[in-house]
Amino acid sequence: MSDFKFNFSDDDSSPQDKGPIATDQCLTSGASVSCRTHTVGPLHKNLASLATPLSYPLQDIELKYLTAACVEAIIDESNQSHEAIADFKALLSTSDGTDLIPSVYEGGLVAWEGAFDLVSYLSESQFDFTGMDVLELGCGSGLPAIYTLMKGARAVSLQDYNYEVINCVTIPSVLCNQRNLSLCNPSLCNFYSGSWDTLREAVPQSVKFDVILTSETIYSESSQTMLLSAMKSLLKLNGTIFVAAKSYYFGVGGSSAEFQEMVSTDEHFSCEIVKTLTCSVPRVIMTLKPR
Ligand SMILES: C[S@@+](CC[C@H](N)C(=O)[O-])C[C@H]1O[C@@H](n2cnc3c(N)ncnc32)[C@H](O)[C@@H]1O
Repeated sequence: MSDFKFNFSDDDSSPQDKGPIATDQCLTSGASVSCRTHTVGPLHKNLASLATPLSYPLQDIELKYLTAACVEAIIDESNQSHEAIADFKALLSTSDGTDLIPSVYEGGLVAWEGAFDLVSYLSESQFDFTGMDVLELGCGSGLPAIYTLMKGARAVSLQDYNYEVINCVTIPSVLCNQRNLSLCNPSLCNFYSGSWDTLREAVPQSVKFDVILTSETIYSESSQTMLLSAMKSLLKLNGTIFVAAKSYYFGVGGSSAEFQEMVSTDEHFSCEIVKTLTCSVPRVIMTLKPR
């Protein structure tokens, strides 16, 4: 899933079960950053064609995706004159393999377990995405969104906090699946970077989504309210939200129980755990629907 190193606390769970650990817990996650839109350009096409994608096979299709490590491997010094590449390298250097630096780097350079859990659940459940407008919040590599694109979604929007992630990981990941244009058409995609509190302003006012997907995004108590507000303003009345998460996140404070509690107190959505994965830190898939 990721060949980045993780910073773990001292208990006995396996590293990948832990989830993001903040390097500086004095800072709050997800400080407001104006959302921007990004369009596919030559840089993204170059990265997609040069990088060797990773693969996530499902029963009927195979998803390709990139992480920052795949992209880093094909960037040389000459590329750094390109502003987006220089910024990406700077983020890699700042993050230095840590899981997240609150409000600086929010974790999208690697693909987290929740992304795979969510894709597997969507595949098992055979949810019909045909003709749907889909949004993935906090996408990183964007595997769940790519899956829905291959399963007939009408249009897919992908958002990440860091524009460096959108430019160098998310968009090239989507393009890696382009070889089969009939299954995955990047012209059906919209890309946004910035924080959840400003996303509604960046998405055209007339647009709301049938499905919202998100994985490993409820790790910070401070961002959960922002995430819920974005969900409320962007989901259609008959829409469905899928959330993949760990039951708790070491060192950063978030947990699935706390998120459920917040959703239930807010009373806008009903919330149900539809799948539990039993491991040292249990992981869940939740669905939210407007009441
Ligand atoms: C741990 S990463 C998970 C990435 C990806 N979903 C996965 O599972 O591989 C958390 C993601 O949430 C997003 N995120 C966290 N806080 C955010 C905020 N306040 N506003 C917008 N995005 C945020 C980041 O962009 C980051 O990609």
